[in-house]
Amino acid sequence: MSRGLSIRRYLALHVLLTGCVMLALSLVFVFSQQHTDRAERRIFEQELAPATALREVERRLLSVHAHLQGVLLGTASPASVRELLTTEGAQIRSGWETFVREHRNWLHDADEAQQIANFENTLAALWQFFERAVAATRADDRDELARLLRNDWTTLQPMLSGKLRELATIQEHHIGQARQELIISRHHSTILVGSLLAAGVLLLGGFAIGLLRYVMRRIAMIENALDQVAAGTGDVAIPHRPGETEMARIADAIRRTAAHLGESHESITVLMRRQQTILESLAEGLYGVDTDGHIMFINPAALAMLGYAEHEVLGLSSHALFHHHHADGRPYALADCPIAASRHTGRIGRRVGEVFFRKDGSSFPVEFTSGPMRDADEPPGCVVVFRDITERLEQDRLLRDTIAELQETNTRLGAAQGQLLQAEKLAGLGQLAAGVAHEINNPIAFIQSDIGAFEKYLRDIFTLIDGYEALIHRQSDTGLRGAATRLHDDADLDFMRDDLHTLIAESRDGLRRIARIVADLKDFSRVDDDQELAEADLVQGLESTLNVMHATIAEKADVVRDYAPLPAVRCQAGQIHQVFVNLLLNAMHAIADRGMITVSARQHGDEVCIEIRDTGRGMEAHERQRMFDPFFTTKPVGQGTGLGLSVSYSIVHRHDGRFEVDSAPGRGTAVRVWLPVKGPAGVGA
Ligand SMILES: Nc1ncnc2c1ncn2[C@@H]1O[C@H](COP(=O)(O)OP(=O)(O)OP(=O)(O)O)[C@@H](O)[C@H]1O
Ligand SMILES: [Mg+2]
Repeated sequence: MSRGLSIRRYLALHVLLTGCVMLALSLVFVFSQQHTDRAERRIFEQELAPATALREVERRLLSVHAHLQGVLLGTASPASVRELLTTEGAQIRSGWETFVREHRNWLHDADEAQQIANFENTLAALWQFFERAVAATRADDRDELARLLRNDWTTLQPMLSGKLRELATIQEHHIGQARQELIISRHHSTILVGSLLAAGVLLLGGFAIGLLRYVMRRIAMIENALDQVAAGTGDVAIPHRPGETEMARIADAIRRTAAHLGESHESITVLMRRQQTILESLAEGLYGVDTDGHIMFINPAALAMLGYAEHEVLGLSSHALFHHHHADGRPYALADCPIAASRHTGRIGRRVGEVFFRKDGSSFPVEFTSGPMRDADEPPGCVVVFRDITERLEQDRLLRDTIAELQETNTRLGAAQGQLLQAEKLAGLGQLAAGVAHEINNPIAFIQSDIGAFEKYLRDIFTLIDGYEALIHRQSDTGLRGAATRLHDDADLDFMRDDLHTLIAESRDGLRRIARIVADLKDFSRVDDDQELAEADLVQGLESTLNVMHATIAEKADVVRDYAPLPAVRCQAGQIHQVFVNLLLNAMHAIADRGMITVSARQHGDEVCIEIRDTGRGMEAHERQRMFDPFFTTKPVGQGTGLGLSVSYSIVHRHDGRFEVDSAPGRGTAVRVWLPVKGPAGVGA
C-alpha cells in the first residue's frame, strides 16, 4: 500500500504553496515596480534636465540682444546693461555646463560629442562678443555697440540658434528613446507578473482540485460507513493508507460507535419490551399526551375501560375524546383541566371523582394522576394514570350508610341505656316504695277506721254534753247553772265543736292524700300488678280521660284533638289511662294563664304514639333530665308529689314502651308515649 498524506498535511502543504506563490508574486511585482521607477527617474532627471538647460541658454541669448538694443534706444543705461551682460554670461555658462554634465552621463554617440564640441567653439565667439559689448558699454561707445549688433550678433545669433536646435533635436530623440524603453519595461514586467500569477493560480488550482477530490472521496467513504452504521451493519470498515491519520481515527471512531450503537440497540430493545409488558399488564389505564394534548400512546387497560381501539385514539385530543364534560353535565373547559395544566406547567395534577366518557357515550367515575414527561428542561407532554372507581364509590356509599345506621343504633342504644338506668334507679326505689307502702298501709287503714269511730265518739260525747247542759239549765239552782255556763265558756265548747269537725275533715283529707301516695307508690312498685292485659282502644281511652278531666282542664286550656285511626293496643288500659291523666295534669299545670293542649294519636308500624303537647312554660335542660325521677317536682309543697311521671314511666316501661320529650323554656312541651301494638313481649301473649 502506498503511503498517503493526512488531510491536515495536505492542507498545510496547500497553505505553504499558496504562501510561496504569493511571495514570488510580491517580489516580482516589487522588482518590476522598481525597474519602472528607475526608468522614469532617468527620463525626468537625466534626459529632461539637459533639455531644460539648453532652453535656458537659448532664452538668455535672446535677452542679450534686447538689453543691448535698450542702450541704443536709450531705454536702458549702459551701466545696468553691462551688469546684466555679466550676469547673463555667467548664467549661459552655468546652463551650458549643466547640459554638458548631465548629457555626459548617458552619452555614447560620437556624433553627439562632435556636435557639443562644435557648439563649445561657437560659444568661444560668444564670449568674445560679450567682452567687446561690455567694453563698449563701459566706454559708452554706442556706435561700437550698434556695429556689434548689426554685424557680429547678426552672424553669431543664427549660428548659436541653429546649433542649439540641433542639440535640442538630439535631446528630444533621447527622450523619445527613454519613453520607449519605459513602455517596454512596463510591458515586460506586466507579462512577467501575469505569467507568474497564472502559473501560481494554475498550481494552486490543480492542488486544490486534488485536495478537494481527496477530501470528497474520504467524505463519501465516511458517509458510506455511517450509512452502514445507520442500517445496523455490525462490522463497518473504512479503507485508508498508513499515513492517513484522520481517516484511521475516523474509521476507528465509526467502528466503535457502530459497536456501541449495537449494544445500545439491544438494551433499548430489552427496555422497550419490558416497557410494553408493564403497559400491557398494568391494571390501571395509562396514556401519554404530547404538548398539544394529543395521545401518543395508550395501554390496553385504558382502551378496555374507554371502549376504543388503539388506532381510534392515537393522535387525537384526549380531552375532546373522553374528558369533555363534568359529572354533572357541565362542559369541561380545557383551561380548567389539570391534565392540560400538567402539560404546560410541569406540575402533577390529581383528581378523584371526575368522569371519563366511553366510546358509547356512557361515563364512569375515575381517579387520575397526571405527571409531566421530563425531557431536558421542556416537558414534552404528560402521562396520565387512571382507574375506574365505580366500585369504590359504591363501597364508600355502603360504608357511609353503615356508619349512619351504626350512629342511629348508637343513639338508640344511648337512649336505651338511659332508660335502663332510669329503670334500675326506679327498681331500687320501687322496692323501698313497696316496703314503705306496705308499712304505711296498715296504720292508714286503722287510722281511717279509727277516725270514723273517733268522730262517732265525739259526736256522742257532744250529744251527751248537750244533754247534760239542757238538764242543768232546766234546774232552778242558779249557782249550778252559772257554774255550768262558766265551764262551757271556759272550754269554748262551741268553737271546739266546730273546730273538731274541721280537724277531722282535714285529717280525713290528709289520710286520703297519704292513701293516694301509697297507691302511687304501689303502682310505682307494681304492688298491684295484677291487672289483666287486654286489647284496648286508646283513642277512646284518651277521650274518656279528657271527659273525666274536662271541668279541670277547661279552666286553663283549649283541647285540640288530632287522632289518626289506631289499632287496638294490648295493654293494662287502667294504668295507661293513669299515664294520660298524669300527662294531661302536667300539661295543664305548665300553662300559667291560658293555653292550648293538643292530643294526637298515630300509628307507626307496629307501634302507636300518643302525644300530649302544651303551650306551657317548657322545661330547662336540667328539669328535662330529672323529670322522671321519683319525688322530683318544681311545684309548691302540697301541690305535687313528683311521683306522677316516675309512676307513668314505670307503667310505660312495663309495657315495653318508651317516652320521648321535646321541651324548651317558653316553647312548651311535647311528651310522646310509644307503645307496642302487641303489648309487652313475654307477658301472657
Ligand atoms: N308538661 C310539662 N311542662 C312543664 N314541666 C313539666 C311538665 N311535665 C312535667 N314537668 C315537670 O316535671 C316535674 C315532675 O312531674 P311529675 O308529674 O312527676 O310530678 P308533679 O307533677 O310535680 O307532681 P305530681 O306527683 O302531682 O304529678 C314537674 O314538677 C314539672 O316541673
Ligand atoms: Mg304530675
